[in-house]
Amino acid sequence: MSDKIYIFDTTLRDGEQSPGASMNMQEKFRLAQQLVKLNVDIIEAGFPIASSGDFDCVKNIADNVKEVQVAGLARCNKKDIDTAWDALKKGSNPRIHTFLATSDIHMKYKLKMDRDQVLSLAEDSVKYASKYTSNVEFSAEDASRSDLDFVCTVFEAVINAGATTLNFPDTTGYALPNEFGNQIRYLMENIPNIDKAVLSVHCHNDLGLAVANSLAAINNGARQVECTINGIGERAGNTAMEELAMVIRTRADQMTVHTDLVTENIYPSSRMVSTITGMPVQPNKAIVGGNAFAHESGIHQDGVLKERTTYEIMDPADIGLSKGNLVLGKHSGRHALKSRIEILGYNLKDDELDRVFVRFKELADVKKDMFDEDLEAILMDEVLRIPETYKLVYMGAMSGSKALPTASVRLEIDEEEVEASAIGVGPIDATFRAIAILTKTKSKLLYFAVSSITGGTDAQGEVMVRIEGDDGKIVVGQGADPDITTAAARAYLNGLNRLIYLKKETGSKNK
Ligand code: KIV
Ligand code: ZN
Repeated sequence: MSDKIYIFDTTLRDGEQSPGASMNMQEKFRLAQQLVKLNVDIIEAGFPIASSGDFDCVKNIADNVKEVQVAGLARCNKKDIDTAWDALKKGSNPRIHTFLATSDIHMKYKLKMDRDQVLSLAEDSVKYASKYTSNVEFSAEDASRSDLDFVCTVFEAVINAGATTLNFPDTTGYALPNEFGNQIRYLMENIPNIDKAVLSVHCHNDLGLAVANSLAAINNGARQVECTINGIGERAGNTAMEELAMVIRTRADQMTVHTDLVTENIYPSSRMVSTITGMPVQPNKAIVGGNAFAHESGIHQDGVLKERTTYEIMDPADIGLSKGNLVLGKHSGRHALKSRIEILGYNLKDDELDRVFVRFKELADVKKDMFDEDLEAILMDEVLRIPETYKLVYMGAMSGSKALPTASVRLEIDEEEVEASAIGVGPIDATFRAIAILTKTKSKLLYFAVSSITGGTDAQGEVMVRIEGDDGKIVVGQGADPDITTAAARAYLNGLNRLIYLKKETGSKNK
């Protein structure tokens, strides 16, 4: 029997540290439910001390998601650990994940501590956390750039203090696969009590090696991998769960390990993360990119038609991708809609389904074919929507090669309708200016992207904006509409509403 690799998903914690990827409580809870469907072993739900919002999200998941272990992050100090435990304590087998840097560079410049101090703080903190639970993970931050003998000393001590998982992160994404594999082997061979704990890795993707490094670690004894869906995370992100899972599944002939992941839920999970965070998946991304199973050249198409395995090493069905996702049309009923939405990973309440069905029918009237992406845009609006402080009533914009771009926008704010017009460099600039006048906001537009949700001239335009509020918080806003200026207005308003919601929900966030 092959060894099991424990999948520790940190999409909700490290993944959320991607610039602009903040998620609200409802979104995190939906994702946690999807992670359960994927059958991950541990969900790292957040960093409870970071803000009251983070605390509430971790607590909500620990209180209600009982099928998996829920972890909360804590620095090595009593307040962090107490707060993490407070959030986690109602979970089933909750995990306190505490971390402290062990590299000379971090100890000298960041912690201003010497090795002895770090060793005893790590030991004391794990002992303290172990009073709450026997499920304690210790991470040696920046481990791959640390003196390995020192890491061995720290790991040996924290195992004696009660840690049951030891995590060796490549925090800066600096390691090379050979080197990282050798480091793991060194730990396996030089920590006398290593058999009392699971060795874990947590790789960042700064050099594009996170998955390769995680695999090298597995080949040398690591049995837990920390990863995120779509590889999102701090800077260049973390090990992409879907890539790791499909390497292990596809190359089972070369691997002596397995995961318990239900890989058929990979594609819907990837779409959900992208929809919620507003971070598109690059088309050529392995496993879940739009082109991952597309065959462009005639020779390839011909080969695949004759025998799929000529050019496909994986069956798209293994990641839950049904070929040709043309799904519904004008005549599709509520039942067909409901089952398609379930395939996308959403179990809707009756009132949510009612709202989605109305929007679906409206769109189906103007658009012949409905794709998964169309449904996701509606779900984003109707189900994952946050309270709308600013609501679009209607808008109109005029532009042309000779015309002065002008926009008029009517919004509902505090149950009152207000209207303003503005001119701008183009119709979208004019629209955003009118919105800024009405909402009296001074946010900075950092990024604007428009894309067509599907092919065809009747496709919906999808706009994604990243905006920075006057308090420095950054959020993503999304909007879709067959008219792209209206889609832009929806996206901008969604961003402004998120800024308000975030302020209310999180208090002061200090990640
Ligand atoms: O990258 C890192 O080192 C981390 C730790 C907190 C595990 O995210
Ligand atoms: Zn990390």
